[in-house]
Order: sequence, then C-alpha cells, then structure tokens
Amino acid sequence: MSMPDFDMVLFGGTGDLARRKLLPALFDAHCAGLLHPNARILATGSHPLSTEDYVGSLEQSVRPGLEHAPPEAWATFLARISYVQADARVPGHFDALAAKVLQRSPEVVVCYLATGPHIFVPICEQLARTGLNHPNVRIVLEKPLGHDLHSSDAINSAVAQYFAEDQIYRIDHYLGKESVQNLMAIRFGNALFEPLWRREWVQDVQITIAEELGVETRGEFYDNTGALRDMVQNHLLQLLCMVAMEPPTSLSEDAIRDEKIKILKALKPITPQDVAEKTVRGQYRAGAVGGKPVVGYLDEKGIAPDSHTETFVAIKAEIANWRWSGVPFYLRTGKRMQSRVAEIVIHLRDVPHAIFPRPLTLSPQNRLVIRLQPEESIRLYFLVKQPGDTVALTGTSLDLDFANSFKVRRAGAYERLLLDVIRGRLGLFVRRDEQAQAWRWVEPIIDTWAGSTVPPKAYTAGTWGPASSSALMSRDGSLWHEEV
Ligand code: BG6
Repeated sequence: MSMPDFDMVLFGGTGDLARRKLLPALFDAHCAGLLHPNARILATGSHPLSTEDYVGSLEQSVRPGLEHAPPEAWATFLARISYVQADARVPGHFDALAAKVLQRSPEVVVCYLATGPHIFVPICEQLARTGLNHPNVRIVLEKPLGHDLHSSDAINSAVAQYFAEDQIYRIDHYLGKESVQNLMAIRFGNALFEPLWRREWVQDVQITIAEELGVETRGEFYDNTGALRDMVQNHLLQLLCMVAMEPPTSLSEDAIRDEKIKILKALKPITPQDVAEKTVRGQYRAGAVGGKPVVGYLDEKGIAPDSHTETFVAIKAEIANWRWSGVPFYLRTGKRMQSRVAEIVIHLRDVPHAIFPRPLTLSPQNRLVIRLQPEESIRLYFLVKQPGDTVALTGTSLDLDFANSFKVRRAGAYERLLLDVIRGRLGLFVRRDEQAQAWRWVEPIIDTWAGSTVPPKAYTAGTWGPASSSALMSRDGSLWHEEV
C-alpha cells in the first residue's frame, strides 16, 4: 500500500515527546523513503515562534540524538516542517492553522495531541469549529488520557462529540514494539505453543518492565501520576492482553480488540481487602545505577518531600476464564532498577513424574522468555542430559535473536504507529472500552493506596525493587525470572 499524502499537525511540538520520540520517528520514516514526497509536519505550540527559529532549535534538541543523520536527508526532512502558533484559548490561531491545512487538502490529516490531557478537549473543540474534523482527519491521543476512570471518560465523551471512534487513535507505544507483534506471530502462526498456552501447562506468567531511568525532568508530572497510572494501566495491561487473549478470528482491528477487552473484563477485581496481599508499591532511595550514584526519589526535582507516589509496582493478577483460571500473572515495573529490561516469561509446569535426578536449583525447567528490551529475543529454556557418564540433567536454551537472525531495518515503536495512523490502521491502538476497563481494574488499587497512611516500601536505586516483591512470588513458590 503506498503511503498517502498527509499533513501531520503536532500539538506539543516544542515538548519533550515531540523532540525525543515523534520527530526522530518521522525522520527515520523519511530516511527510509516511507513518507509521501508532499507530506508536511506542522509543529504547534502556544508561544510565538518563527519556523526558522523552531527548525533551528531542532539542530540542538533532536539532531544529536539521531544515530545517523546524513546532512542531505536532515535538510530535506527539515524542509517538511513549519511552526504554527496554536494556543487552544485563541480561536484565531486555529483559523490560521485550518486555513493552512485546508488550502492544500492532503489525503489525510493527522492531529497528534502530544500535550497534557487537560487541553485535549479545547483543542478538539477548536479543530471541529474550524472544519478540521472531517472524515479524513485522524486524531492521536497520547497517554495519560485522564487521571482515573471518571476523567478519562469525560475526555473520551467530549472528544466523541467531534470525532467518530474510528478517527481516534489512542496510542500505547508498547503495542508498536516489534516483539509484541511477534508474540502474536508466535502464538497464532505456529501450532507448537497453542496447546501448551493454558492453565494445564502454564504455572505462571511474569511481565516485567524495568527501567534504569529515574523521573528525569518530569518530576512534577510523575509525582502526580506514579507507576500504576504511568505504566500498569496501559503498557503492562496491554502486554497481559496480548499474552492471554484467545486467538482472534482475523488480524482485523476489531477482531483483535474484541479479544483484548474480554481479557480485561475477565481480570479478577483486586478489592481494597486484597491490596495488601496482591500488590506491592515501592519508592526508590539513593543508590547506584550503572555504577553511578543517583539520588533518592524524594530528592528529585519537583517531588513533594513527603510524597507517597510509587516508583515501583508489583501485582499478582488473575484471569477468571477457562484458559487461565488459577494461573497467576505477576506484573512488575519500576524506575531506577538494576537494569533496563522488558520481558514476558511464560513459566511452564514441571513434569508430572520426574525420572531423572536433578539439583533443585534447576527448577523451574521450561520457560519461554520473550524479551522486548534492551534487545529483542525469544529464548526457550529446557533440560538436556549432562554430557558424559551421567544421567543427570542440565539447563540449556534455544535462542532466537532477531537482530542477528533478520538483518533488515526494523521500525521503532513510534515510527510504526505513526505510519499506521497515516495508513488508517487502528489495530494497534486502544479502543475506548479497553481503556475504560483498564482504569476500572486499577482504580481500587489507586484508591486504597491514596487512602493509606502506610508509605511505599523503600528500595535502593539499582536493585530489583523492595523485598516484598520477591515475597509476593515466593509465597506461591516462584521467583522473578532474573533472580533464578
Ligand atoms: C512511557 C512512560 O509511557 O513509557 C515513561 O510515561 C517510561 O515513564 C516510558 O519511561 C518507557 O518506555 P520505553 O519504550 O522506553 O520502555
């Protein structure tokens, strides 16, 4: 399918996301020849700026982060960009913006709202008032979409007054990661795993997103958000859906999203009484990450000195359906952890009757580890006979390293998803009902923590989180994968 001609209006064009992720992703697509020759990027912000000044600022803020930016490609990329002032409180700005877009009438107009959610609705109102909500306009809503179910519902309802659901792309960049799509390929493209992918053979599932980064320059935002809203409500629950959903009848967008919502609805509620037993909230203290000393969360810029905001979460989730009844799904995410790793571990049950002698340390034996970061790989751990004159077993693994196996350029998550918006593919975006259901599930945990005077458990920066995170698993006789 050839790429349609488009204009991309980037609200929040001077912000962190545009500079760190969106413009680099568009640049990569540009270098790969994937953007229509006439396509334009209209970066907007509330301040008056000339295009020359804006583009000049990208030299310092975007170009140094690009691994390879051949001067010619960089120059032709910049030629696509102009800056338009668009303050949602000033209707005249939107009249000028609409005139600029409508005068050219590209096949597709993408309005990317990389701003705080509090201005999503005013922006949509202005877009609609100026005719920028016609059927060829698609809007992309960045997370966090709201602060809880009520506020996200209010935004979704207001946006729905101006845009149809199939014009709304709620982005979760984890769904754009190549290995997440590979998970679907592994599950539904092969007969090998499907018979094992169920309670009879799976002991537990672990999903980890660990970061080395702290809150960086986003202290104020993060202190009002916390890891549960920032990572669990969206990324971790989306990954859980991809692991646990039934085979969709096709790759069509609603076939996949219909299966995901069934899982979200089947998640056993975590009641306020369950919170102490099934969740762990942590907050990092000073420590060292990657050999460098780092300050504790409470000493980061923008953080309230007595903040109880969590920088680490671990949860034992369960899915009440035939396939997964009784199988724990352990979710965990944290900032300032020992290393940057995102992975899904399917931990298979032991053999029903062991005839080979083996040391206890070899347990568990069969694990399928799907690694999303830092490198993409799939590894299957199993037991073989120790070589030599013995009948003892030893562990080994089958490895598939995507970078080495497939020497082709792979689009990053944001590039992939931006191209999907331009092509009108909704499958990897979150439908309104999915988002609401995910909020519904995390809310009792948020509320219970908010009402509690017990502070989060401390963990030293550069470790795997508070000790109670390991205790959450050891109560069930399991260990987090990298501690094995
Ligand atoms: C974002 C969160 O959605 O995901 C950040 O807001 C987090 O806090 C980031 O750092 C992690 O994404 P990735 O792709 O770097 O793992």
